[in-house]
Amino acid sequence: MRVLITGGAGFIGGTLARAHRDRGDHVVALDSLVTGVASQVPDGIELVQADIRDPDLPAIIRSRGPFDLVSHHAALKDVRLALLDPRADADVNVVGTLNVIRAAVDTGAGRLTFASSAAVYGDPPSFPTDEDAPIVPISPYGIGKYAGELYGRYFAHARGLPVTAFRYGTVFGTHTPEASEAGVIAIFARRIVAGEGVVIYGDGLQTRDFVHVDDIVRANLAVADASPPDPFVAFNVATGVETSVVDLASHMGALVEHPLIVRHEAAKAGEVRRNRMDASRLHAATGWVPQVDMDSGLVAVIDAARERFGA
Ligand SMILES: NC(=O)c1ccc[n+]([C@@H]2O[C@H](COP(=O)([O-])OP(=O)(O)OC[C@H]3O[C@@H](n4cnc5c(N)ncnc54)[C@H](O)[C@@H]3O)[C@@H](O)[C@H]2O)c1
Repeated sequence: MRVLITGGAGFIGGTLARAHRDRGDHVVALDSLVTGVASQVPDGIELVQADIRDPDLPAIIRSRGPFDLVSHHAALKDVRLALLDPRADADVNVVGTLNVIRAAVDTGAGRLTFASSAAVYGDPPSFPTDEDAPIVPISPYGIGKYAGELYGRYFAHARGLPVTAFRYGTVFGTHTPEASEAGVIAIFARRIVAGEGVVIYGDGLQTRDFVHVDDIVRANLAVADASPPDPFVAFNVATGVETSVVDLASHMGALVEHPLIVRHEAAKAGEVRRNRMDASRLHAATGWVPQVDMDSGLVAVIDAARERFGA
């Protein structure tokens, strides 16, 4: 399979690129390196340093293509930054996404997958939330992600490009960046290792559906191997388990047998209160189930922080 991964120098895109490479696919990573780093692109994979908003994107892709799969993971994914500068968010996450979808169509890509987010649901009326829940994003980031889905749906119908949107929960892994939706895990791990307390914004009862990046990769590979949907489908990719920030802190403290001192500061705006998603549509389509349990995932994060910060 020939695969183009936008955002291939990022956390999820880099992990996905490695998994495609390891099973023998030909992979090209495209990334502007605005937050990604070239060293995150696994060996043996060409990194094309380009911006997804570039009007010459079709020519850039054509010179390496055609691709059976365009896996669109490039984005500005900082919810708080998007609140401060919604236009910058929309420029990349809406206009850039539109540019990628059009370039995929123009270069004859076999199909496109797109990293959307649980943020499209905002604060939904029921849990676990399935894909038919009302779409009422409460942040510019969530609005941008849904706009990307709508463009995907449009081009799937109008131009026959099969499109799959993944609505990810909060993705964590051994090397979760601190400036990430699951950055709280990386920050807690660093502070645990340093013997410091942690700051929780608001009451800490806000919950997230944490899903391990290896399970995100497995979902991508399962969809890549299944027949293309007809013509657009959105899948939740999450565990169905919600964890509050307070519980996360006490749980991580318990894992290292070292209770954490927690200090509370004012809540941040634009963040959803609860997230717990139902991924049974993806399970029915591909057999996917999450395989990494939260505890072993967290232990690996803490071990990596110990190695990195040396305690
Ligand atoms: N991490 C999560 O918890 C999470 C949850 C839901 C959805 N997502 C989505 O998954 C995708 C990957 O997220 P991630 O956590 O790996 O983020 P990341 O920041 O590590 O990776 C995003 C990559 O996109 C690149 N990029 C940004 N703007 C670009 C542009 N204009 N042109 C080309 N490249 C550009 C960055 O340099 C970076 O390497 C994003 O679309 C994000 O919105 C992530």
